Amino acid sequence: SSGAQKTPLTLAFEAVHGSLTDAVVVPEGYVAQVLVPWGTPLSAGDSWQSDQPMTAERQAESVGMHHDGMAGFALDEGSASRRFVLALNNEYIDQSALWAPQGGPTNTDGGKRPAEESRTEINAHGVTLVEIEKDTQGQWSHVPGSAYNRRLTSATVIELAGPVAGSDYVKTRFSPAGFQTRGTNNNCGNGVTPWGTYIACEENWPNVFVHHGERFQDDARIGIPTDKSRYGWDTSAGDATEDNDEFARFDITPRGERPEEDYRNEARTFGYQVEVDPYSDALAVKRTALGRFRHEGCWLGKLQAGQPVVFYSGHDARNEYVYKYVSDAAWDPADANRPGEQYDRLAIGSKYMDNGTLYVARFHPDGSGEWLALTPDARTQDGRRLATALGLADDDLAGIIINTCDAADLMGATPMDRPEWASVDPASGEVYLTLTNNSQRTAEDTQATFTNGGDSLDEAGVGYDLAPTNAANPRADNAQGHIIRWRESRLPNAFTWEVFVFGAASDDADNHSGLTEMNQFASPDGLWFDERGDGQGILWIQTDNGYEGVTEYTNDQLLAVVPNSLDDIQGTGPVINNSNQQQLKRFAVGPNGCEVTGIFATPDKTALFINIQHPGNWPADGNALAQDATVSASGQVRPRASTVVIQKRDGGPVGV
Ligand code: FEO
Ligand code: CA
Ligand code: CA
Ligand code: CA
Repeated sequence: SSGAQKTPLTLAFEAVHGSLTDAVVVPEGYVAQVLVPWGTPLSAGDSWQSDQPMTAERQAESVGMHHDGMAGFALDEGSASRRFVLALNNEYIDQSALWAPQGGPTNTDGGKRPAEESRTEINAHGVTLVEIEKDTQGQWSHVPGSAYNRRLTSATVIELAGPVAGSDYVKTRFSPAGFQTRGTNNNCGNGVTPWGTYIACEENWPNVFVHHGERFQDDARIGIPTDKSRYGWDTSAGDATEDNDEFARFDITPRGERPEEDYRNEARTFGYQVEVDPYSDALAVKRTALGRFRHEGCWLGKLQAGQPVVFYSGHDARNEYVYKYVSDAAWDPADANRPGEQYDRLAIGSKYMDNGTLYVARFHPDGSGEWLALTPDARTQDGRRLATALGLADDDLAGIIINTCDAADLMGATPMDRPEWASVDPASGEVYLTLTNNSQRTAEDTQATFTNGGDSLDEAGVGYDLAPTNAANPRADNAQGHIIRWRESRLPNAFTWEVFVFGAASDDADNHSGLTEMNQFASPDGLWFDERGDGQGILWIQTDNGYEGVTEYTNDQLLAVVPNSLDDIQGTGPVINNSNQQQLKRFAVGPNGCEVTGIFATPDKTALFINIQHPGNWPADGNALAQDATVSASGQVRPRASTVVIQKRDGGPVGV
């Protein structure tokens, strides 16, 4: 707000030490509460029992497993910080926890999976929508039986929209016209649109499929397995209750004469941004214009009336890329969300997300960068028309989307250290991006032989491409990860960038950001800029870390920093260094075995919501906190991924 004196935003909590316990640790003066753990029934009159066998039917009406990205959707402006619809990704499953009462899953070593087990696992994936409310004591709970409670699973019918919809690439036995598919898979990070919808992002979906023959080029590039699928759902095919290819669709080996007779194209209906209206039960829509890869998330760029709507997304695999989507339509503030009202939000989504241009990023050593359009007539690095270079018809935009990764290779995009979450400072438009780690990065000059992304080739059994270091990914064998930020330039399709912070253990030789015991971290993953007005906000950083230098000291964690209190873009960084690293503070630590992911706050910032994914032995008796936790007599609990709400005991805004 111009003219008014800014009060500088300062982190007011006392940083917490590292922790290696079965509990969430928060700063003095804060409390944490477990909310909607896996298996919580969404309907009224049912309750979770820790020794309860899970069934397909029960799981379809309960909170899914392995919570990841999430967001809250207000039901009206006045109660927005007390009551809302929580939309929550259920990324994948812990089979030993899911099948604990029977001692574990059946036939996961390549045998035939029982149909009921496959169906239950399918129903544990996807998205959970559940109404949440806070009582007068400040305790949060879900609302059993709310009309907003809903599950999307890996079996739910979903529409296809954008360039790929209705094309020959996505015609299947289930949808011969190519406008529908079943299921959304491995939804990791998320997005929130200005028109009030939720975006669930399909990340590690290739692994639920198997192809026992010669794969399409795009299936090979993305890494569809050729040996067996991750959970073996395809092996339950003979036990389907109806002739609906409930499980056979996960084996995409062609069987029929034509694509409409089998599921050779099934995997081409995955790898997208999935738009969900949290206020209605309308079918969700896969927005294919935003590209097809392992989408970590979907992050809205700076929103300006009369300007295109922009979304950023990273492909989380070693040596894969960063993307930007720019809508054809200009943002009309009249399309902004009207909380709680019933109207066709997905029609507004179609306006902004079905027609636009997808770009991929190239980072230059001097701190500049460029966005390379993935359009049929773009020119590849070696001067060919992109569509021609991919072997496609002249104007086949659908083909370019299906082959997004190969298109980006041909354009000369910069291979990154596993792009995870991004977050945008809505005032400055600065974009922050976590690069979690990369074991396939080398200081040697392999530029001549490096061709494209690494993970994909590895999972296909073809072997890695080892990428040389570059300015934006400067560490060889980057075990600790780093965060970069960039700002769009006034020049078209150009940006400037720098490293924001390098992860490290405090005693690492390459501790470039000067971290100490009190803020050492590695493998940054979740990221969220919580806008607090006056162009200020806290940047929250979450970790998913396997780096021993840090894991021997602490479990995964949540850190906070006020980036606008630090120097602005000057060079290639790091912005956080010896002179200011004390401004990066550890706010919370998760329980043993977990990663800390998913984050948002109520509009008044008095309640911060995070997710604890794949905990090892938590939560005991529904308790989150170190000082409150009790364990069962055996000391072992059936672990359940959960949302955790962190609030100040005095009810004030979190972090300050
Ligand atoms: Fe599901 Fe890239 O984390
Ligand atoms: Ca992640
Ligand atoms: Ca991760
Ligand atoms: Ca995860």
